[in-house]
Amino acid sequence: MCGIIGIAGQTTVTDRLVDGLKRLEYRGYDSSGIAILSGGELSRARAEGKIKNLEAHIKDHPLNGQTGIAHTRWATHGVPNETNAHPHKSGRVAVVHNGIIENFLDLRESLKGQREFRTETDTEVVAHLVDVELENGKTPREAFAATLKKLHGAYAFGVIIDGVEDEIFCARAGSPLALGIGDDEHYLGSDAMAMAQLTNRLIYLEEGDWAVIRPDGFEIFDLKDQPVTRDVTIISGGPAMAEKGNYRHFMLKEIYEQPETITQTLGNYVDEFRLSANIPESVDFKDFDRVIIIACGTACYAGMVAKYWFEQVAGLAVDIDVASEFRYRRPVLGDRSLFLAVSQSGETADTLAALRYCKEAGLKTAALVNVMTSTMAREADIALPINAGPEIGVASTKAFTSQLTALAALALSAAVSRGTLSREGEIRLTRELIKLPRKVTGALELDKMIEGLAFELSKAKSAFYLGRGSQVPIAFEGALKLKEISYIHAEGYAAGELKHGPIALIEDGTPVIVLAPYDELFEKTISNLQEVASRGARITLITDEIGAKSAANMAADMIVVPSSDSFVAPILTTIAVQLLAYHTAVHLGTDVDQPRNLAKSVTVE
Ligand code: M6R
Repeated sequence: MCGIIGIAGQTTVTDRLVDGLKRLEYRGYDSSGIAILSGGELSRARAEGKIKNLEAHIKDHPLNGQTGIAHTRWATHGVPNETNAHPHKSGRVAVVHNGIIENFLDLRESLKGQREFRTETDTEVVAHLVDVELENGKTPREAFAATLKKLHGAYAFGVIIDGVEDEIFCARAGSPLALGIGDDEHYLGSDAMAMAQLTNRLIYLEEGDWAVIRPDGFEIFDLKDQPVTRDVTIISGGPAMAEKGNYRHFMLKEIYEQPETITQTLGNYVDEFRLSANIPESVDFKDFDRVIIIACGTACYAGMVAKYWFEQVAGLAVDIDVASEFRYRRPVLGDRSLFLAVSQSGETADTLAALRYCKEAGLKTAALVNVMTSTMAREADIALPINAGPEIGVASTKAFTSQLTALAALALSAAVSRGTLSREGEIRLTRELIKLPRKVTGALELDKMIEGLAFELSKAKSAFYLGRGSQVPIAFEGALKLKEISYIHAEGYAAGELKHGPIALIEDGTPVIVLAPYDELFEKTISNLQEVASRGARITLITDEIGAKSAANMAADMIVVPSSDSFVAPILTTIAVQLLAYHTAVHLGTDVDQPRNLAKSVTVE
């Protein structure tokens, strides 16, 4: 969380820093700020709330210079106000930080009597520490390097120092940070997106690295302060990819991109001529008797659907857990398990920690990610792309359906290599995957109708989503989408579980969204639908053409997605729950792309 950008330039940097912050706003938008060196003198501007507030502030109080750092914050320590906004300043030093300094209270204590603390943040102490070292006579490099040695926790830093013309000091441990190479200037950023307008030549700092960047060059040092060289990565895909086009929100644009993004994912995982899954040779499911899938939020629900696929089609056991719980419960890993992280960003702190935990334990690790330059992609033994393109809306949509598509292909390939699926079965299920983009287009045609239904839902205080089998995780996902962007309380439940307690919450008019494509569990789900309908629930049934005929008159509203084999049905019902949440939020006038309290990339535990 939090986004950092820095420019050691030859021309004025303010506008370019603000532009970089806008690209980083998906990482947090509680406050933002900028610090600039001009003629060796340091000035800063900060504002509570979104970047547009900082922009307005700068318009009234311009600051200019050729070297600067900037930050957009997702609050961890201290309320999201201007005082707690980065950059934090002490004496000659200004600091922007992403991560958490775990020993900040001890460090504050060590400076008691020497320094006055003005903020509630963990970061401020870093500015004081560097400044104290400078006062003690250390050079800027020595002061920065000495400060890093005192810190425990996770960090990515950008630091500028009054009187030190043209230089930015930066470091990473636990939180990602990259250097950008320009023609006659250099940059730093939390990710490629931050620098998309500036350069496509990046150097990802490694754990413990720190660096000094200047307009005419840079130097990188390792944990032991030894000079090191790191590889240059060329980033493909231009900045235009992150534009909203004619859509009202990024989320809607990303929902509509799904026929194309699923096609892109299929391009990587399916051989359309041979009609088979086509996955990297480095993954052979014969070598494993279990897959451990770890992820957070929406990505975790993708993993839950995959559990049904791997177990039903490939007879391969799957453990699935949220990353924040996984390593603290001391899991039994086994020695023939494949660890699979699922993450859009590839940076989620808990998922990354789980990956490292399993790697250290000697497991083969794979990461299914959207951002192939991410830390997970770089650290896992096998990096598996989903190719969904940049996802900007905080609510994950196209990444989810691409994760599902890739996981379905992986399950197919596991089934083939483990001998649990006949060639006919492989052809049939591969065809179902190939038909997905067309069927997703069909589901998107329901948009206007779903917009109408969403108006009714927008009046609710609370809602339930029910499903059985591989529709259970889609019920979870539907409820999560509604909660995060419309702020309506919602719960996803296995349809058969409701009568074990939560049914007590059903009263006249409670919205219950039932996911029931016509499959072997259809009848049972419809019985559960009737249990809640008879207690007054207002039912919206998401089903397919056959299901709609069988359940005519049983629901107040029906959303009929294209029929398919039950194997791919979760991907089609997903489109309906995405649109339902989106339009409900629009009716309510919430900030769809940047919902309150959230950030796209959660890089703190
Ligand atoms: O980048 P990741 O896929 O690891 O992110 C995981 C979750 O933070 C993410 O899916 C989150 O739940 C989304 N806001 C859901 O829409």
